[in-house]
This record gives sequence, structure tokens and C-alpha cells, in this order.
Amino acid sequence: MTKTFRTLDDVDVKGKRVLLRVDLNVPMDAGKVTDTTRLERVMPTITELSSKGAKVILLAHFGRPKGRDDKNSLKPVAAALADVIKKPVGFADDCIGEPAAKAIAAMNDGDILCLENTRFHPEEEKNDPAFVAKLAELGDIWVNDAFSAAHRAHATTEGLGHKLPAYAGRTMQAELVALNKALEAPVKPVIAIVGGAKVSTKIDLLENLVTKVQALVIGGGMANTFLHAQGVKVGKSLCEKDLAPTALRILDKAEAANCAIILPVDATVAYHFEANAPSFAYGLDAIPPDSMILDVGPRSIERIHAAIDDAATLVWNGPVGAFELTPFDKGTVEAAKHAAKRTKAGKLVSVAGGGDTVAALNHAGVADDFTYISTAGGAFLEWMEGKPLPGVEVLQVK
Ligand code: 3PG
Ligand code: MG
Repeated sequence: MTKTFRTLDDVDVKGKRVLLRVDLNVPMDAGKVTDTTRLERVMPTITELSSKGAKVILLAHFGRPKGRDDKNSLKPVAAALADVIKKPVGFADDCIGEPAAKAIAAMNDGDILCLENTRFHPEEEKNDPAFVAKLAELGDIWVNDAFSAAHRAHATTEGLGHKLPAYAGRTMQAELVALNKALEAPVKPVIAIVGGAKVSTKIDLLENLVTKVQALVIGGGMANTFLHAQGVKVGKSLCEKDLAPTALRILDKAEAANCAIILPVDATVAYHFEANAPSFAYGLDAIPPDSMILDVGPRSIERIHAAIDDAATLVWNGPVGAFELTPFDKGTVEAAKHAAKRTKAGKLVSVAGGGDTVAALNHAGVADDFTYISTAGGAFLEWMEGKPLPGVEVLQVK
């Protein structure tokens, strides 16, 4: 997917009005940004464009509003962004029409302006051509730095790429290079670790991965469904019993594709789903009927380590246990630390992303030691499913 795309190296931005699509969809609580990771990620492109004398006009969505709704205003996010990038960030109350046009007309080269939530207009999500045209009037070029919104074919994530000269921002560029190294053109053997609660949300992902990787570790609640399908009695564990046939089909597909499936060989169980609940390690033939599997067991952890040692490339999505509750974070933390160690030793290219994964790796204290960690949720999953991402496709040079 990353064959050729234009980057900021291919354009002289001085004096140009740059419509820069960023992902400012940050978690907020009581009007305050609670995690600034995404703001830090958009900083390199903003500062580069500003220092090269562009007029930097930020386009972004926030939340999923139905029409204009002050609770979803980007104004407080723009203020938080200004703090992170240590530069003034102006704000306009609408992303089209007079408020936007006036604010842009008043900009000097190097200025940064954030336009109000693009989703205040329903035409954004419809990728409405008339809306795209109104946006396009405001800029000379379009730069997409929002990989994490690239699975959406919306006006500002995709439509503008057909109307204006289109370029990948630095964060998008880094993401595409990293993802290319992970699955499209990886050093083999490639191992994937996939965890999380449910098989039902990751069927397409698993079916794609077994055709691309040499080993696939399945952990988390979803592993219970596979174990159940193989006849293991999983007690009161989270388990989608109706998906047993799907699990068996995925196992068959893996075998046909020569992908080794690595399921837990033992389990850490408890009788209550709570932090510090008394926990016990059991073999799979001995899970007590009234207990729940909350993490992989010690022998499984060793197996995962050995599998990581055999790999040159790792792609990781989803925790392998209930990592938000100690001590059921152990499997995830140990595997993450091991992958980090191999990466630091230069033996492994490690790429992780999607939903809880970043939180899990932060919790393990190894986020900085991975080769690349994506802040994308849905977009990362769709990429792992092998689906084309509209916001990336539109950047391809034909
Ligand atoms: C995200 O936070 O995952 C992206 O910004 C996309 O948001 P969406 O799922 O509301 O389209
Ligand atoms: Mg999402």
C-alpha cells in the first residue's frame, strides 16, 4: 500500500495555504485533554510547515456529533495543541464559509489556524462534492497526516485529495513506512500477536494474518473461543461458543497457509473478575468449572518468548490477558518486555497498534522501545485486515 506517495519533500510550501488534515480526536474529561499522544504526533508536520513559511490550516473532526454541538467543539483541543507545540494556534468557528475565509485571509506566513470540527457538517462524512469544493477554496494544497482517520472516506480525509495536490505529512509517512516493514515487505519470519476480548470483532483480521505471517499467537478472551472449539473446558471464561466453527475454519486456513497458531498451553484463572483476586495457574485439562481464565499461564509466556525469539518481525494488536487488572497483566507485560528487549538488541522489528494495545504497552513501560507504535485504532485494524484505506489510497501517485 505504500508504493509511492508524495511527501513534504516534494513541495515548496512557502506562502501557500496548506489544508492539513490531522487527527485531534483525543480523549477528554471535563474539558481537559487526558492523553496528549496524538497532539505530540501531529507536531512534526505542523512545525515543519510553519517554519517553512506555510499558512498552516488544521482540519480535524472530534467525536461523532450529529450537527453543530458545543460539547464537541475543537476549541479546547486547539488550546491544548498550542501548549504542546509551544506556538500560538488560532481558531475559526466554522471549517467553511465566512468565519474560515476571514481567519485565513488574516494569516501571515508561518501562522497556524485550527478550523472548527469538520463533523459539524453532515456533508463531511458523506464526502459531499459541494462541501469538498467549499473546503478546497480555502487552500492551495492538501496534506494528510491523519493515518488514524484514513479508514474513513470523508471530505477532509479523502475527498480533498481529488481536488487539491495531495501530500503525506511526516506522521503519515512514518506510519506508512513502518507498516510496510511490518506486513507488506517484512523481513521474515513474521510473528503476529493478537489478543483482546472477542473473536467476533477480529475474524477478518485473523483470516488475513494467517496468509501473511509465519506464526500467530492468539491470546486474551478470544483465545478461549479457540480452546473451546478444540474441546477444552474453559469454565466461566469469556467465550463466544457460537463462533467455534469460525475458530476451526481459521485454524484450517492457517494450516493450509503454513502459519503456526500458538494458543495458550496453560492459564491463569481466578474466581472473580477484579484486581488482586486470588489467582491460580492451571493446565488446560484442569480449568475449574466455576473459574475464569484471565491471563495466559507461565508455560504459555515461555512459549510466546520462544516464538518471538524465532521471529524477525512482530506485529502486535491486543493484550493477551486482562491487563488492566493486576496480576492478570503479567502475560502481556512479560511478552511486551521480551519484544522490547529483542528490538533493542537489533534482532526484531516490532510494530504495534490498535485500541488497547498502546495502553497495554505503556503500562508495560516499553512503548518507547518498540520500532513503531501506531496511535490508530480502527485504521490499524482495517490495515491488519488487508483492506485498502481511502485516506492512504488517495495519496498514491498513479
Ligand atoms: C479515531 O479516534 O479512531 C479516529 O479519529 C476516527 O474516529 P471515528 O472512529 O469516529 O471515525
Ligand atoms: Mg475509532
